[in-house]
Amino acid sequence: MSLPLHAPDASDAPAQDPSPYALAPAAHEPSAGDQWWRRAVIYQIYPRSFKDSTGSGMGDLAGITAELPKIATLGVDAIWLSPFFPSPQKDAGYDVSDYRGVDPLFGTMEDAKTLISDAASFGIRIIIDIVPNHCSNEHALFTAALAAAPGSAERAMFHFADGLGEGGNTPPNNWQSLFGGSGWTRVPNPDGTPGQYYFHLFDATQPDFNWRNPAVQEEFEKTLRFWLDAGAGGFRIDVAHAMFKKEGMPDWGGAPDGTPRPGYPFADAPMFGQPELHQVFARWREICEEYPGEPVLCSEANVRPLSRLADWVAPGQMHQSFNFDFLRTLWDRDALAEVIGDSLAAFDAVDAPTTWVLSNHDVSRHATRFGYDGRAMDLGDGIGPRDAQPDTVLGRTRARAATVFMLGLPGGAYLYQGEELGLGDNTTLEDAYRQDPTFLRSNGERIGRDGCRVPIPWVHDAPACGFSPTGETWLPQPENWAGFSRDLQEQDPDSTLNLYRKALALRSELGLGLGSLAFYANPQLPEVLAIRNGDTVNVLNLSGAPVPLPEGEPLLFSAADGPALAADGLLGANSAAWLRATA
Ligand code: GLC
Repeated sequence: MSLPLHAPDASDAPAQDPSPYALAPAAHEPSAGDQWWRRAVIYQIYPRSFKDSTGSGMGDLAGITAELPKIATLGVDAIWLSPFFPSPQKDAGYDVSDYRGVDPLFGTMEDAKTLISDAASFGIRIIIDIVPNHCSNEHALFTAALAAAPGSAERAMFHFADGLGEGGNTPPNNWQSLFGGSGWTRVPNPDGTPGQYYFHLFDATQPDFNWRNPAVQEEFEKTLRFWLDAGAGGFRIDVAHAMFKKEGMPDWGGAPDGTPRPGYPFADAPMFGQPELHQVFARWREICEEYPGEPVLCSEANVRPLSRLADWVAPGQMHQSFNFDFLRTLWDRDALAEVIGDSLAAFDAVDAPTTWVLSNHDVSRHATRFGYDGRAMDLGDGIGPRDAQPDTVLGRTRARAATVFMLGLPGGAYLYQGEELGLGDNTTLEDAYRQDPTFLRSNGERIGRDGCRVPIPWVHDAPACGFSPTGETWLPQPENWAGFSRDLQEQDPDSTLNLYRKALALRSELGLGLGSLAFYANPQLPEVLAIRNGDTVNVLNLSGAPVPLPEGEPLLFSAADGPALAADGLLGANSAAWLRATA
């Protein structure tokens, strides 16, 4: 999309215009629909690392329930809970062995029901993480498939195939695991001789379901209904783009080794974005619509370009999809403007809301990513002790600004637990503690995602910073964690926690989530991104120096550390502000 941000010819510039801000035509008008999910702010809880009520070192459901009053002070509409189902925990619970249960690590079904109903009393919906692409190799369906013969109905629930070549020693195709290594694992026959292979896009302990089999579809419909009956407010759909594989599972020559890694153009990948997905999503939407309270479906879909992703949220499909293009964008004015403009154009075309997200449990937190000088780091799995370390002050300053700017955009937003405390990753975690299968499967070549999953700090002078009563933590907290504790931030009016609270309250009061968007053309300020949303001007200064704000517009709110602005009428370096438009 071409955006009106660049310098016109000097001869075209209005010579005596005192303001470097000129409003361009609207790039987005509000939808006629005003359903809750069009403007929702959804807070992701990673149960392992939120709050441990038992002292085991692992967070749990009762811990979350106990902290609901604190979550409610943030002003979020819903909580998305990462998996808490029975699981051998080979991929931190994304390897599910029973979709309709609760792992004793996290509590009981009673605890889940209490969490859902207590959250409702605060007006907060609970969104359940459904993992339909694969289960655990300990799921009853997979153990039955292993015990059954090739060609059986049990094996047809998964992708089993004979190997190629002499002795069937070559995997059935060249597809790789996203966690590293082959995507195929061979299993023995009952007599001990080498048998068939099964496909797993992730770890070998995560066999992929065969979604062409109606029995798989029925299983998941039952699971959706199970959680909707329990009062769930909807579902986040894990790896939704990979559920169907192209008929025949042909080799993929698109990448040299057939490895579908982020950054590779996915459009032709036979394991991603297959058209058959859409009839499943349509069915799931119908199921959600049978229930009160407008339960939502949000897809984790790594599909590009954005215009193709929009098909996923077209009428009758999912309600929302994560906008990973926004998350991937570096600290760069033009790149951000482009992704915002493109996102709104793509989603507006199907009358779906755009969502915005900066952090989650799979990527380095944005306070860490933005702590690298220049344009910030490109997304990798994470940062380890042998990597160049981020400038944590710069990272946190930019992260606060990025969040304030994001919350001033029209659409929905996702927040990841701990970002409201200004947390970055644990970037010095020793290898011995790492649990992410990407680290293990790549023999340490890929550092993995443990750094962004560290248990969060609550009380600065308590064991494990108040995360667990015994001081146990499943991953070690970094030494500086106490300084980010919630109790300290409660008392500091300029803390990141209070910044998030103010931003969320004002966003709701000003109706920014359901608002409009027009860019300001400000060619004289090449590192300033300014938009107008209704009567609010939202300005992000990506430069390392103060810049003038639009004149005459009263300041509503600023992300600067400490007292509002660098000076009257000047927005500080790496900061963001909202102003009331007077004209
Ligand atoms: C999703 C999850 C990630 C998990 C993967 C495999 O991408 O967000 O944490 O490892 O699916 O289930």
